[in-house]
Amino acid sequence: MTKVYVGISADMMHPGHVNVIREAAKLGDVLIGLLTDRAIASYKRLPFLDYEQRKAVIENMKGVTEVIPQETLDYRPNLKKLKPDIVVHGDDWKTGVQAKVRQQVIDTLAEWGGKLVEVPYTPGISSTLLNKAAKSQGTTPDRRRKQLHRLLQAKDLVRVIETHSGISSLIAENLEVEVNNQKRSFDAVWSSSLTDSTNKGKPDIEAVDTTDRANTISSIFEVTTKPMIYDGDTGGKPEHFAFTVRTLERLGVSAIVIEDKTGLKKNSLLGNDVAQTQDSILEFSEKIATGKKAQVSQDFMIFARCESLILDKGMDDAIERCKAYLEAGADGIMIHSRKSDGAEILEFCEIYKTFGAGKPLIVVPSSFDRITETEFAKAGVNIVIYANHMLRAAYPAMYETAKKILVNERAFEVRDDCMSIKEILEVIPGTA
Ligand code: SPV
Ligand code: MG
Repeated sequence: MTKVYVGISADMMHPGHVNVIREAAKLGDVLIGLLTDRAIASYKRLPFLDYEQRKAVIENMKGVTEVIPQETLDYRPNLKKLKPDIVVHGDDWKTGVQAKVRQQVIDTLAEWGGKLVEVPYTPGISSTLLNKAAKSQGTTPDRRRKQLHRLLQAKDLVRVIETHSGISSLIAENLEVEVNNQKRSFDAVWSSSLTDSTNKGKPDIEAVDTTDRANTISSIFEVTTKPMIYDGDTGGKPEHFAFTVRTLERLGVSAIVIEDKTGLKKNSLLGNDVAQTQDSILEFSEKIATGKKAQVSQDFMIFARCESLILDKGMDDAIERCKAYLEAGADGIMIHSRKSDGAEILEFCEIYKTFGAGKPLIVVPSSFDRITETEFAKAGVNIVIYANHMLRAAYPAMYETAKKILVNERAFEVRDDCMSIKEILEVIPGTA
């Protein structure tokens, strides 16, 4: 019997997929190479359904003989193993992200005289359209909360950006660039204590209370579907922290980061220029354990942020603390530094490999901003957070505009600095 291979994501099945499988079945036994979550996330977004869910659907479709995982977007490993006579694919992959993959398929099949059969694209329906429609429905707290876990499993490095409002979050939600034939976007948002406070015109000293912070989360969640990591500052008193954990879980936040400081918290980037006190290992470990005990859902995570490098306490202190925090139940570590060369961060990352037991490692490159994501991934970092850049970019633009209006006593001079009225009316769907 002719062996026919179909590589497919099968996330949101539509008549176009059914057509491809029907045509493939006419040619022989259909072997589905079902792309894993990791393979899909490598070139677009995380699929809505996970691998097992997608497998359950596709293995029960008429015409499908067998389903096996395809671990990469690249077909070659599976093709070389299975040596199919035919590969069937929709004809919509000739340009864009998949054009290279298509050529590799043709070249590989040629090694044993196999051929590629392309089925005409079914007009009027596509995964992109379905994805848009699904996004417009929003999400639920349970669904959103789980997303961070799934991202950590599917991606080497999860990319997170700070947002502090509906409008900044829409950028994080929708912005996508294509670089070297790969689509790139942000995976999650960071609710920063610095920018949430600053945006409210208040200092970053835990003066904005949890209720107020929760209001910001709600405005962000109203208009987005991506997961959130929440900057929980010191976490407050353990008894209060337990309530914060549950509040965040209920809202659909995926994780909180708490830092091992005590007393009046100041922003870490001030370092020892201001008085900052580090918590004891014992007290902070107890706080972590209290939070873990309070947690209701399976998937919520509590990350411990170590401030030893910020406070010049040295690498050994950082390592001793992080080991203790993981033992106390922390789901991962955020290591922070004020130094701009990133050397101490990369040194920590190397040592973390020896005791981190695969638990996520987070970095916040506010100071060491020359290090690339590829370098972080190589160092074993799992989450990179751009913690304050949206607001830091917005403020100077607003300030300069206000100043120019004052100086000129009219708005003509700022016209070119601003988006047009037409553009602002179009930026939010549903305004026009
Ligand atoms: C924040 O974003 O509020 C942080 C990260 O805590 S940093 O400001 O870099 O310390
Ligand atoms: Mg903070």
